[in-house]
Amino acid sequence: MTAPPRNVAVVGSGYVGTTIAACLADVGHEVTAIDIDESIVEQINAGEAPIHEPGLQELIASTAGDTLTATTEHDAIRDADVTFLTVQTPAREDGSLDASALTAATKDVGEALADVEDYQLVVVKSTVFPDVLESAVVEPLESRAGPIGESVGVAVNPEFLREGTAVNDFIDPDRIVIGADSDTRAIEELRAVYDRLYDLDSVPVLETNRKEASLIKYASNTFLAAKVSLINDIGNICKEYGVDAYTVAEGIGLDDRIEAQFLRSGVGWGGSCFPKDTAALVAGAKAASYEPPMIEATIEVNERQPARMLALLDHHVDVTDQPVAVLGLAFKPGTDDTRHSRAIPIIEELLDRGATGRGYDPRPGARTAMEERFDSLEVVDSAQAAMTDAVGACVVTDWPEFSELDEEFDAMAEPVVIDGRRIIDPPETVIYEGLTW
Ligand code: UDX
Repeated sequence: MTAPPRNVAVVGSGYVGTTIAACLADVGHEVTAIDIDESIVEQINAGEAPIHEPGLQELIASTAGDTLTATTEHDAIRDADVTFLTVQTPAREDGSLDASALTAATKDVGEALADVEDYQLVVVKSTVFPDVLESAVVEPLESRAGPIGESVGVAVNPEFLREGTAVNDFIDPDRIVIGADSDTRAIEELRAVYDRLYDLDSVPVLETNRKEASLIKYASNTFLAAKVSLINDIGNICKEYGVDAYTVAEGIGLDDRIEAQFLRSGVGWGGSCFPKDTAALVAGAKAASYEPPMIEATIEVNERQPARMLALLDHHVDVTDQPVAVLGLAFKPGTDDTRHSRAIPIIEELLDRGATGRGYDPRPGARTAMEERFDSLEVVDSAQAAMTDAVGACVVTDWPEFSELDEEFDAMAEPVVIDGRRIIDPPETVIYEGLTW
């Protein structure tokens, strides 16, 4: 029998928090989304998604004002059975975690729960290192709301949501990890929340302690990033020997132990998670006096790929004082997020060479972000405009529309195309180089 609806608070309305709030409201839970940003709160209450994620707008439109409400007030937490913490944990300059927003949010939660007598559960969705979990969540909560495991429960329940497929990833997870230090009330309460969303007999649920759960998130992202860096390393060797790394990847991906996903070699990984989480794992390792060679190499290979792309371009053309098209500015297709996009080092290298960088991305948000970042980048609103008179084109994001490019190549001054994502189908007139094929 399905568990009755719960009263749920979700603190932090980024892409993770908003997705979770909307999906839980959609299955009948009474959800309050809490954020300090008034404009986000207003948008949600007006039935509008504050960020672009496929399927999210529909969910918010159908639940806002009914099972979903947004507010800037933390008082709503007092009535919640379960409070999800989905606050950002960005990286500092040295790679370590900046937990100030999470600590501030936890203090607000602790104060809201201070004189509440019933047991309430706080679920950490934010990505945090074990020591930060203690200092940013457990301690501030305990000092305000009482002993953990008695007045208040804390469970670490990492999210594995990709940008661009966050709603689907939440609705249809590979696994659920619940780190609750054997607090059975916490485990039962979280299961009751998810029971309305999943068939908990068919989705694997792994119960761990809190520290293990927090490291599972870092290990997952680092493993995936390492898989891409390893195929990039192998891909660079393939290129030197005139071998197609995609055929090699197909050959190894058929081995069940390796598996075919995350074997697309090219210009590397970006986004809000892989760079941050690999850097945090290195910083965490070093803080414990361990140098993690594999993870450092994972990052290093990724940092080198843009230079390899530019070296291929240099081989064919001198870009000094010439326009060069940068096709794709977002870190991956399906999003306008440019955080740690590989387009950033590509543009920097082009500008260093004295080239005129001409950036294009199908998403206006990605174009605006890059326009704001680079004073001297020309940002244009079509691939055609980027490529006309250019002496080269660097393909950085695998947007499907780039596979349709055809006559645009004829407008280039020199039809040199360096493809970092294996998305271009080049006509014979083009001088085409794949990064790893
Ligand atoms: C990632 C994780 O997949 C997700 O589980 C986690 O919760 C957040 O971080 P995301 O950053 O949204 O999600 O994107 P993802 O699709 O994983 O791609 C990350 C980067 O790797 C992108 O820049 C992508 O272009 C690159 N990538 C991915 C490759 O270069 N090759 C591949 O084969 C796969």
